[in-house]
Amino acid sequence: MNIERTEEQTVSCTVENRIAWVKFNRPEKRNAMSPQLNRQMMRVLDELEFREDVGVVVLSGEGSAWTAGMDLKEYFRETEATGLEGTRKAQRESYGWWRRLRWFQKPTIAMVNGWCFGGGYGPLFACDLAFAADEATFGLSEINWGILPGGGASKVAVELLSFRNAMYHAMMGENIDGRTAAQWGLVNESLPLESLQERVTQVAQTLLQKNPIALKATKDAIRRVREMTYDNAEDYLVRVQEAANSFDNEGRKEGMRQFLDDKTYKPGLGTYDLSKQKA
Ligand code: COA
Repeated sequence: MNIERTEEQTVSCTVENRIAWVKFNRPEKRNAMSPQLNRQMMRVLDELEFREDVGVVVLSGEGSAWTAGMDLKEYFRETEATGLEGTRKAQRESYGWWRRLRWFQKPTIAMVNGWCFGGGYGPLFACDLAFAADEATFGLSEINWGILPGGGASKVAVELLSFRNAMYHAMMGENIDGRTAAQWGLVNESLPLESLQERVTQVAQTLLQKNPIALKATKDAIRRVREMTYDNAEDYLVRVQEAANSFDNEGRKEGMRQFLDDKTYKPGLGTYDLSKQKA
């Protein structure tokens, strides 16, 4: 189906109760990532990153797909026809927004509503948390059309899956559903499509109640320490907490005060009341 879509229309975004619902928006092409979509996604992320009225970003897809991966026509065939310069530019644009998303200021959640293939594993891994519909379909389909899982997809497979599952998934070109994706660790949870948005909203609301400076430091720490020795990680975590204190030293003091002095909550059982924190 050929629908004329402007670059701006390749991504949709609505903000409601501090949750930004960002969607791949080329349902007629199963949300395949074209250069236009990649450029627009970067703009949308730029716009959302420091907005006061946004605390969590959810990435989802319009229609039956989350994303069917890279657009074989517009991302591969047409850019390759323009030579190496065009290919490298298209790579910078896609890898660029995935990297931006990996280190995004706000917590991010992938809400995988349908097809998720190949290049889609880049943004899937970039999101801090991921929830899938049982009915969703995941696949490293690259081998089926004659390439290796590039653009980070192989790396995502070994980061998230066991060695054996990663190898099987990449070599066999067989798909798995949301339930198996959850069992394999590709997503946090899988649940019926009809309950997916409600569950993701619940998770987002919980995140909105946490200290945002601590959340950013935490999500970066979890990504960074994976590649560090224990001693390096220990040192990094001390430095990062001290750096975080320079942005927000009142938060943790308030957290201690409400527990130790007011006795209004227990950190082991819930979150301190952010609204009582002095600016
Ligand atoms: N690149 C380019 N176009 C794509 C695409 C992709 N990755 N995925 C889907 N499309 C296009 C189809 O060519 C079709 O276009 P048309 O209407 O102009 O013919 C349209 O989107 C609808 O796709 P269709 O295959 O008819 O939908 P479906 O619901 O029957 O099947 C998929 C959905 C996802 C199984 C199937 O489209 C597919 O296999 N896509 C490729 C997935 C893939 O290998 N991605 C990895 C890329 S790295």
